[in-house]
Amino acid sequence: MKNIVILISGRGSNMEALIAARDAGQLPVNIAAVISNRPAAAGLETAAKAGITAHFIDHKAFAGRESFDAALAECIDGFAPDLVVLAGFMRILSDGFVRHYAGRLMNIHPSLLPSFPGLHTHRRALEEGVRIHGCTVHFVTPTLDHGPVIIQAAVPVLDSDDEATLAGRVLRQEHRIYPQAVRWFAEDRLRLDGGRVRLAAELADGAVLIAPEVR
Ligand code: GRF
Repeated sequence: MKNIVILISGRGSNMEALIAARDAGQLPVNIAAVISNRPAAAGLETAAKAGITAHFIDHKAFAGRESFDAALAECIDGFAPDLVVLAGFMRILSDGFVRHYAGRLMNIHPSLLPSFPGLHTHRRALEEGVRIHGCTVHFVTPTLDHGPVIIQAAVPVLDSDDEATLAGRVLRQEHRIYPQAVRWFAEDRLRLDGGRVRLAAELADGAVLIAPEVR
């Protein structure tokens, strides 16, 4: 069974979705540890309550990005993970860190990449007047919110939406697609083909568009 380490910075609802999928027998991984860069991250307590080793490494205690990333990598590597899962980890990672975990570092981003990399994605989607928004799980490259796409879910943008309702609709889909992406990795179904992710033969039609309920 593959070993994963989850990195968080706050609430940790995507982490919870991964734990719930594991507990339901739908995600065959060992969650070796959860690590936060913020000591006060609510998700740390959730992880500890679930019996998972939970650590924090406060980025503020380090002089710079490289030294923090080096300490973080040392902690992560102590758990010998097959996959490192960024779940609301609000740090820009150094190139060296990303290269160290090439092909085994996943992120979830609350937009349909390559649209809206960076922060405030829901506000920007509303400002731009897009009719379809969503979320993306991708392998991480040194460019922020960029890399081979593993799975995306699209949601409609309603006239009645504000930032909170749109964020909620997208988050429900995040909680569906992240366990799915990690499961594919755990089952060795993901292959990198140039800049694209291919799914193993039984899922050869590839692209997954989840048609969500509208709320
Ligand atoms: C999610 O929207 C995720 O896509 C983004 O940050 C948020 C984290 O939420 N990267 P949570 O901590 O998983 O609840």
